[in-house]
Amino acid sequence: MADQQARTDGNRRSTQIPVIRWEEPPEGPVLVLLDQTRLPSEEVELVCTDAPALVEAIRSLAVRGAPVLGIAGAYGVALAAVRGFDVAEAAHALEGARPTAVNLSVGVRRAEAAHQAALAETGDSTEAAAAALAAARALHREDAEASARMAAHGLALLDELLSGGGHRILTHCNTGSLVSGGEGTAFAVALAAHREGRLRRLWVDETRPLLQGARLTAYEAARSGMAYTLLTDNAAGSLFAAGEVDAVLIGADRIAADGSVANKVGSYPLAVLARYHHVPFIVVAPVTTVDPGTPDGASIEVEQRPGFEVTEVMAPQAPVTGVGGGIAVAPLGTQAYNPAFDVTPPELVTAIVTEEGVVSPVTAEALTELCTRSRGA
Ligand code: MRU
Repeated sequence: MADQQARTDGNRRSTQIPVIRWEEPPEGPVLVLLDQTRLPSEEVELVCTDAPALVEAIRSLAVRGAPVLGIAGAYGVALAAVRGFDVAEAAHALEGARPTAVNLSVGVRRAEAAHQAALAETGDSTEAAAAALAAARALHREDAEASARMAAHGLALLDELLSGGGHRILTHCNTGSLVSGGEGTAFAVALAAHREGRLRRLWVDETRPLLQGARLTAYEAARSGMAYTLLTDNAAGSLFAAGEVDAVLIGADRIAADGSVANKVGSYPLAVLARYHHVPFIVVAPVTTVDPGTPDGASIEVEQRPGFEVTEVMAPQAPVTGVGGGIAVAPLGTQAYNPAFDVTPPELVTAIVTEEGVVSPVTAEALTELCTRSRGA
């Protein structure tokens, strides 16, 4: 039975947002998440005491964004193990909670493998649970480190590609500390530029239908004190036409072996615009997002989400009027097309920035070399 509880602390305001953490109160271990569906209006924590609660939190996007999904998945396996639930069953449910971000299954499998190995070696379920938790903690820590390294590589690349005078960066969806153990992926690069005094402006796509740009990236940008401007997704074209964009920086949910990039729906049109306007289109993602097991873009499973997310505005605290609980903006019964992601072909991607360095041009050979180097295979 899924067990989630909400905790509110309206006064908590720090630069580094505590997006996920493991706690061990007397009642037993829990995974505490910052509920991203409530941002920016409220900072509410969601306390998960079992894997089904976490699966629900992942599906509802209370926790979202590729790297942190991996961390959450790993902690979810540890939670099941520590609380004595069926680990294989929990791992299967967690892995299937959302299909596109490969990091989720990478995180789940890593913790499950650690659990299995310790069980085989010691025959002791407590030791096996401790091994799963150690694997989750290691992934959490590594993601924070990867974040810092991606930021450094990304900033160096921007400085190399762009002339001085301050960078004007366009971003889509949300890629900051809400998606990571550290400061994120694409947003971490913008943040590094801001700290070095080299960010002139961050253009933030609102990212319909769930407004990750407006609700989450603007929230993170405001906290960091950077100059940022929010725009509707459809306004991006006129911004390029006006010569106001120096580079596009986005994250990724899965990068296929051929370099095709799945990211939040609306990324591909930005890549097309960027190419037409001769603007670099840069993807920032940890190596764990590269999936050698997915050969090309057509093989990436793109999550389809419920139509009500399009026919209603799902703003936090919206009065309940539509079938999904939001404000209806289309006649009742309207069919909607609502893929959560789209796929950008490698030829439109200027560079992929990872913690291990920059891949440019983006080719299958360069990605294989990167994965081999990073995984020591
Ligand atoms: O549906 P979401 O909000 O989980 O989508 C997230 C994104 O598309 C991010 O851009 C992606 O996970 C990269 S985050 C580093």
